[in-house]
Amino acid sequence: MSAVSTKRPTVAVRRKRRVAPPSVRALLASTVQRAAAEQMILVQHVAKSFEAGSGPRRALRDVSFSVTAGEFVFITGKTGAGKTTMLRLLRSDARPDSGRILLGGQDISDLDQKQFRRKVGFVAQDFDVLDRLTVAENIAYPLETLREHPRRIQARVRELLEIFDLTHSKDRLAAANLSGGERQRLAIARAIAHRPDLLLCDEPTGNLDARTTFSVMRMLNRVSMQGTTVLCVTHDEHLAAMMGKRVLVIGDGVIASDTIGLA
Ligand SMILES: Nc1ncnc2c1ncn2[C@@H]1O[C@H](COP(=O)(O)OP(=O)(O)OP(=O)(O)O)[C@@H](O)[C@H]1O
Ligand SMILES: [Mg+2]
Repeated sequence: MSAVSTKRPTVAVRRKRRVAPPSVRALLASTVQRAAAEQMILVQHVAKSFEAGSGPRRALRDVSFSVTAGEFVFITGKTGAGKTTMLRLLRSDARPDSGRILLGGQDISDLDQKQFRRKVGFVAQDFDVLDRLTVAENIAYPLETLREHPRRIQARVRELLEIFDLTHSKDRLAAANLSGGERQRLAIARAIAHRPDLLLCDEPTGNLDARTTFSVMRMLNRVSMQGTTVLCVTHDEHLAAMMGKRVLVIGDGVIASDTIGLA
């Protein structure tokens, strides 16, 4: 055997010995961390009450569920069931009385405002757009508040106008002049402009006719296919069923059912 062939294995063995094998504890910790990160939303035993004239009114009694990164999930339930309350808790707009909420493995109460705004986008029923700004300015606005580079903002605005079918000079039109469906598409474009990990929607099609509802849903589906986790509240059970996605039903202050489509 040559000198080279006898030396190589020795070096390899020495190198191998220097690397300490990972401890079982370290392996477990990394597995737990990975699982927590893959779980975009983890809600554990959340309760929330509000003061009503006759005493506290319990909106959520004991809500637990998780949503994996990239999932598209509907939350439905009767009026007053607590759907908007759940979204407000996920938006950090209100705090649970008990229980905890983790986003991407981090307790929501530990995230500062800036971290939170980067992670989460929100679409409301009442078309959350700025009427006096143009369509393009509406999309650029959240990126400017996050101090993105102007050139990147321009590129992202152009991309979103295209994706959301808001071109043909609409980029120069004041948002006040858009139709209902166009306004809601613009609201979604604004909410995802900064590429949040999670998009929360509260009745995003509540004011729209069936055809426009379908086109907005197609847009949300597209957002989800590009990797954003989407959690969409609707009182419209048929819409949730039609989309063939996972549906959580809130009833009596808990998750009453968790199915694909409607059970
Ligand atoms: N800020 C508040 N102050 C007092 N009560 C509240 C408040 N927010 C919600 N509630 C009450 O909590 C309950 C749940 O309200 P929530 O808005 O979450 O219902 P919802 O499922 O979104 O209903 P809808 O389908 O009509 O939008 C209701 O009884 C409501 O009156
Ligand atoms: Mg509501």
